[in-house]
Amino acid sequence: MSLIIKHLHVNIGGDPGKSLRRRSQKAPEKKILRDVSLHVADRERVGLVGASGSGKSMLAMSVMGLLPRTVHVSGSAVLDGTELIGGTPQDLADIRGRAVGFIFQDPGTTLNPVVPVGKQIEQPLRRHYDLSKEDRRERVSAMLEKVGLGASVASAYPHELSGGQQQRVGIACALITSPKLIIADEPTTALDAMTQLQIVELLVQLVDGAGASLLFITHDFSVLARVAQRSYVLESGEIVEEGDTAGLLANPSSQAGDRLVTAAKELTFARKESR
Ligand SMILES: Nc1ncnc2c1ncn2[C@@H]1O[C@H](COP(=O)(O)OP(=O)(O)OP(=O)(O)O)[C@@H](O)[C@H]1O
Ligand SMILES: [Mg+2]
Repeated sequence: MSLIIKHLHVNIGGDPGKSLRRRSQKAPEKKILRDVSLHVADRERVGLVGASGSGKSMLAMSVMGLLPRTVHVSGSAVLDGTELIGGTPQDLADIRGRAVGFIFQDPGTTLNPVVPVGKQIEQPLRRHYDLSKEDRRERVSAMLEKVGLGASVASAYPHELSGGQQQRVGIACALITSPKLIIADEPTTALDAMTQLQIVELLVQLVDGAGASLLFITHDFSVLARVAQRSYVLESGEIVEEGDTAGLLANPSSQAGDRLVTAAKELTFARKESR
């Protein structure tokens, strides 16, 4: 499944609308994304790398209509022929979780602490498909096996699992409906280096196995090298560089790319030193 984003602009504040139009109430407009164009081809794994605050999460959320109405989004984001920008809440809710799976940074906060993880993985199936209880249970068990946890974990609560195990549940929640595009927003940032590596390798294996596409968001080039064939560098809401990930890592041409590569190298060096 392909995602083609063209000339995406995201602004916050500014004109509050006719009914509130009074000078004193007009907040200054803040440009969050400026003329962003990027594409993810069918079965391609693409990286979006940028420093904290560069607009990575806003890009993911604007594409899926997850931003409040005070945020102005314009431009185009086409998912396999369907325009997402300006789509009705109903259309977008239908696409989210079925055609597109999301994996978030910190499963410790996105998972519901009082619901067993099996039930949480089952939720998107209930919402999007008309399956019998047995069918759903079977699919959840198979998914838990796939992410390396085992079916017995279904009855566990999130606090009974480690950070890495929780993120495996996060991946299971995103993949249970067999989406053809996965958007992962810093899915390994909260984990230690070894666990990061295992989760990244699991994600790549599952995405490729399912014939899906991946948009992987991170600030860490060293992780990206293992995930994405091609990457975009975002700085202050603008794409400043794109290319194959190995090339970007070896020879970044933008200042932002250079800073991120240097930071990744320092991080890798520090990890080695501390062993
Ligand atoms: N609700 C909001 N109201 C106003 N500004 C916001 C809001 N949410 C985010 N921003 C601003 O949008 C910009 C981009 O934020 P975003 O969360 O997309 O960054 P990010 O690249 O995902 O950073 P991080 O790596 O820390 O997750 C930041 O300057 C932030 O301050
Ligand atoms: Mg973010």
